[in-house]
Amino acid sequence: MDHFRNPRNMGEIPDADGIGTVGNPVCGDMMTVYIKIRDNQIEDIKFKTFGCGAAIATSSMVTELAKGKEITEAEKISRLDVADSLGGLPKVKMHCSNLAADALKAAIEDYRKRRKAKR
Ligand code: FES
Repeated sequence: MDHFRNPRNMGEIPDADGIGTVGNPVCGDMMTVYIKIRDNQIEDIKFKTFGCGAAIATSSMVTELAKGKEITEAEKISRLDVADSLGGLPKVKMHCSNLAADALKAAIEDYRKRRKAKR
């Protein structure tokens, strides 16, 4: 509930190193995650979502979990980790936690693609 009422890291990073947007096939909600990378670590992370309360809470949790982590570690954050950290989610809301975890992975992928393109 706390992450729903006071979401952390909501917003946008204008000069992000990676951006991931995913849509939820179950409900049609959307989420975008922005990451800033330094020395292979997630220095900053923000999210924007057009989603339900559970999606907001899970995104807030994902950003908290990912911040300061090595990219390879952050990549391993799973949907279940997120739901667990929030003390569990009602079954009908489990799909909402997919959004945040998937958007983070998409942002990391985008970062890798951009790096390759620069080389
Ligand atoms: Fe769509 Fe939760 S109902 S993300």
